[in-house]
Amino acid sequence: MDDESFHHVPVLLDRVVELLAAVPDGRFVDATLGGGGHAAAVLAAHPGLELLGIDRDEAALAAAAVRLAPFSDRTQLVRASAGDLLEVVGDHPPVHRSTNRKGVSAVLLDLGVSSPQLDHADRGFSYRSAGPLDMRMDRSQGFTADDVVNHYDYAALARIIRDNSDERFASRIARAIVAARPIEDSAHLARVVRDAIPAAARRTGGHPAKRTFQAIRMEVNAELDQLAAALDDAVALLQPGGRLAVLAYHSLEDRMVKDRFADAASGGCECPVGLPCVCGAEPTVRLLRRGAWKASAEEVAVNRRAESVRLRAVERLGEPA
Ligand SMILES: C[S@@+](CC[C@H](N)C(=O)[O-])C[C@H]1O[C@@H](n2cnc3c(N)ncnc32)[C@H](O)[C@@H]1O
Repeated sequence: MDDESFHHVPVLLDRVVELLAAVPDGRFVDATLGGGGHAAAVLAAHPGLELLGIDRDEAALAAAAVRLAPFSDRTQLVRASAGDLLEVVGDHPPVHRSTNRKGVSAVLLDLGVSSPQLDHADRGFSYRSAGPLDMRMDRSQGFTADDVVNHYDYAALARIIRDNSDERFASRIARAIVAARPIEDSAHLARVVRDAIPAAARRTGGHPAKRTFQAIRMEVNAELDQLAAALDDAVALLQPGGRLAVLAYHSLEDRMVKDRFADAASGGCECPVGLPCVCGAEPTVRLLRRGAWKASAEEVAVNRRAESVRLRAVERLGEPA
């Protein structure tokens, strides 16, 4: 896939650039590189950064290589998982001798799928077109949506649909999926899910299969486990003054980001609010904003993906090395 056919509009681009352009010279790890839209803008704004771009999807990396060609002298691209951040960073030292090796200056996580992953029916992510029951971001992985849809038992299916998507009708949908097996493709799955939801409830909240598809996708790609590991690794990797920015599009993911950031910013302190800390907790980061940044109405009008975004960011504390 070339840059032309990989069309993904980066969300909250100016805010992300503003946050990451303020970091010290050194390594910038974009662990969900996609088409490289955010990464290119950050590199353009900060000449002292060297990029390690990571994605699980080889099509995204190919598109990013084209987009990032003007910065090829300070860019490395790697197919890997954000959940393995510590190892991946350790295994890929900076290309420039002059790049600060003491720690990472910036980490970006822009979660979920890219527009091209949704748009290409052969990836199986979309409930709007007929494609294989696939949904893997990393197509070298064996486990696919077919394993979930056609092989999970009723209880496991109902649990992942409920837990990953707050779907009210998770039990009915799981029962309908089991009864309809074998489910042939994504269009068949979308019909089964739609028919399992009471007609009155289908009229609100977008496409009736949207939440179930999201839940299955999160299971196939172990997205919550990946995020938990990536957040811990990213905070550990940052050098003092380094920043981590995370764009989440799902309430479960945003809650995880919010809780982990709050924990790192308090050092796990559980002393009563308003009283001095006596437990010796050591904060590792400071929050760059108490709440999350959201997209403006203008941005949402031109990019629907921006509607649910929550951006949170922290800065690593400590004396510069
Ligand atoms: C929303 S897109 C990123 C778009 C990018 N910021 C841009 O401006 O083009 C998310 C990308 O992250 C990748 N991804 C999601 N979870 C990942 C993970 N755990 N490890 C590596 N890549 C991941 C997906 O394959 C997808 O290409």
